[in-house]
This record gives sequence, structure tokens and C-alpha cells, in this order.
Amino acid sequence: MEKPDDDKSKAVQEEEQVVNPWEVSAKDGGKIDYDKLIDKFGCQRLDKSLIDRVERLTTKEPHVFLRRGVFFAHRDLNDILDAYERGEKFYLYTGRGPSSEALHLGHLIPFMFTKYLQDAFKVPLVIQLTDDEKCMWKNLSVEESQRLARENAKDIIACGFDISKTFIFSDFDYVGGAFYKNMVKVAKSVTYNKVVGIFGFTGEDHIGKVSFPPVQAVPSFPSSFPHLFGNDNIRCLIPCAIDQDPYFRMTRDVAPRIGYHKPALIESSFFPALQGENGKMSASDPNSAIYVTDSAKEIKNKINRYAFSGGQDSIELHRKKGANLEVDIPFKYLGFFLDDDKELKRIGEEYGSGHMLTGEIKKILIEVLTDLVERHRRARAAVTDEMVDAFMAVRPLPNMFN
Ligand code: TRP
Repeated sequence: MEKPDDDKSKAVQEEEQVVNPWEVSAKDGGKIDYDKLIDKFGCQRLDKSLIDRVERLTTKEPHVFLRRGVFFAHRDLNDILDAYERGEKFYLYTGRGPSSEALHLGHLIPFMFTKYLQDAFKVPLVIQLTDDEKCMWKNLSVEESQRLARENAKDIIACGFDISKTFIFSDFDYVGGAFYKNMVKVAKSVTYNKVVGIFGFTGEDHIGKVSFPPVQAVPSFPSSFPHLFGNDNIRCLIPCAIDQDPYFRMTRDVAPRIGYHKPALIESSFFPALQGENGKMSASDPNSAIYVTDSAKEIKNKINRYAFSGGQDSIELHRKKGANLEVDIPFKYLGFFLDDDKELKRIGEEYGSGHMLTGEIKKILIEVLTDLVERHRRARAAVTDEMVDAFMAVRPLPNMFN
């Protein structure tokens, strides 16, 4: 006999991976199946021809995160590139929920990539700090969320954004006026059943959660920023991790109904925990990630002690069989942060064949990350409160397309 429906859906849920803005977990503690995710969400794979097109249009070498498939999915990127080719303008929108003081390397990825997009396409950028979101979800006070938003803004600015093309705003400070009008238009166009379907809210969730999605939706619409775009209905491209896709599925659904273009998306996979791709970087376990505040000594210790190795148990076996690069975290991390394609290939060959030992690849990774974190630390130390105020000032950006 068939199982009753309820049981069936529960069984399906149990065996399936979960990816939404609040939870990322793979099936049976394994790896996230990104192909399945693309099918389920209905986005498109970012293929080589599209990357080549980006390279042609920008006349810049594609960012490592594009070349190595970190950003692997998209929605309507082709439309943005068509418009760009016709000489039409677009803007970038990304954001961060300020839930913690210190950022780890995974948090930097969308911002490093957005900085490349801004430089390559020479376009303006809006960055939303959702202090309201984290206040509602993480049980932080309003004041603490606001403080974290400013602290995080310093890390974001340290990624090198161009102040003449970048507007950073926090929801608590900026929501109102034209932005709020768009929020109300979105809210009126989405039923309760629809948000429950997309986000899985239950009757126990407070109503703040149900009311939040329009806040993250409307930076996709240029009229939310009259000081930047006036009445210009230009297109928007959103770089983000793929767990944010539900917000923008909702946004894309309502956009044409309220007179806007659907925002385009370029979406990344998740940065793996030190413990391996089935592990999760968790805020409660500082040893699961490298933080931008870690000292050189901490970086060295964490990598040597915790980075999951695909190397073999004994040197003899390792020399014979080589490392399993599929699961090796030092090799994966180098794939994100070692720019030099030839050097990465060489390391892969040497390590994969057993010529290079785990200790040796870890040493290379320690150097690469220590250097990255040190550069970030210096850049962040140079960000003053006045600079934060300047990035967050509501102002026109007269040269934002130059
Ligand atoms: N909700 C995101 C987070 O928790 C923050 C965010 C707001 C965002 N707007 C965005 C992320 C747009 C990517 C793109 O981090």
C-alpha cells in the first residue's frame, strides 16, 4: 500500500539536501549536489561560453572565482550582457546580514567577486546591510545589530570598493521614502501562501520574518535609490551565494507586475569548512573556519591541525597512491585563493601523484592565506569612521559609470 501523503513528503524531506537562506545541509552529511540544486531552483549553469563572453566584453581576465567555477549558476546573465553590449547601463546589488563581528574567508568571497565585477564593467554598486534581518533572526538587539553593521562595513570597504561608484546602506538607517514605497508594492503582490511556499515559515514564526522578504527584494529596483538613478529603469545584477536564491525568485516573480526588469543573478557555491566539504562552517566552532582576524600563528595551527587531508595515512602509501584531491581541503582552498593557474596545476599534479606531501601543500596554503589575511587586516585598519560615513552617505554618484 502507498504511504499516506504526509509520511511520504516527510521521507522525501529527510533524504534531501536543504538549501535556503537559513540552512545549508547536504543529504546524509555528504556533499551538496549543485547540479540538483540548479534543477530544483530552476537557475542556469554558468558555462564556458558565457565566461568567454564576459571576458570579451570586459577585456579583462575572468576572475579566479569564474575560471574555477566558484560562481557556477546564474539567472538571465545573458540579458545583462546583451544590454551592456548595446551600451545600456546596469548596476550591481549585493549585501550582508551583520550577524557577527569577525568575518571568515567565506564571507569575503561575494565581496571580492563583486569588486572584480565593479572594476571590469565600471558600474555602480549598492550594498545592503540587513541589520533588521539579523535583529529578527538572531535575537540581537537593535543597537547591537546596528553596531555590527558598521563593523562589517569596514571589512567590506577593505575589499577595495570604489567610493565614487558605491553606496552602502543599513536597513535601519535607509528604509523609508522611495525604498519603502517599493516594499509596499512588493508586499501587496505576494500572498501569504506564496512566502510560506518559498521560505517555509510556520505559524510559530513571528510576523517580522514574514514581512522581511520585501526588504531584501527592493534594492533590485533602481527607483529604490532616487539619489543614484532618478527615474532611470536600469537593470540590476546580483552576485550572491546560491542560498539567497529564494529571495530573488520571489523578486523576479513580482518585478514585471510592478513595472521593473527582473534582476539577473550570478550565484556561488559555498566555501567549505576546514573539516571538509560535508562539514559546515559554524559560528559556534571557531576552528571550522579561518577568520580575517586570525593571527599568522592561528592560521598555521588551524590548517595544520584541522584542514581535512586527502593524503594517505603513511608516507609509503602516499608516495604510491597520491592524494585524493576530491576531498582535500588545502587543495580546495588553493583553488579559491591561489591566482596562478599554472602553479595550481603543478601542485595538483605533484600532490595527486604523491610527489608532494600533505605537510608541503599545507605549507603553501598557510603562506597564501597568511598573506591574504595580512593584506585584509592592513586595509581594514586604514578604514576610518569618516570613510564609513562617506560610503553610507545618501548622495548622488556623478561618475558612477566612468
Ligand atoms: N540575507 C543576506 C545575509 O544574510 C544579506 C543580503 C541582503 C544579501 N541583500 C543581499 C546577500 C543581496 C546577497 C545579495 O547575508
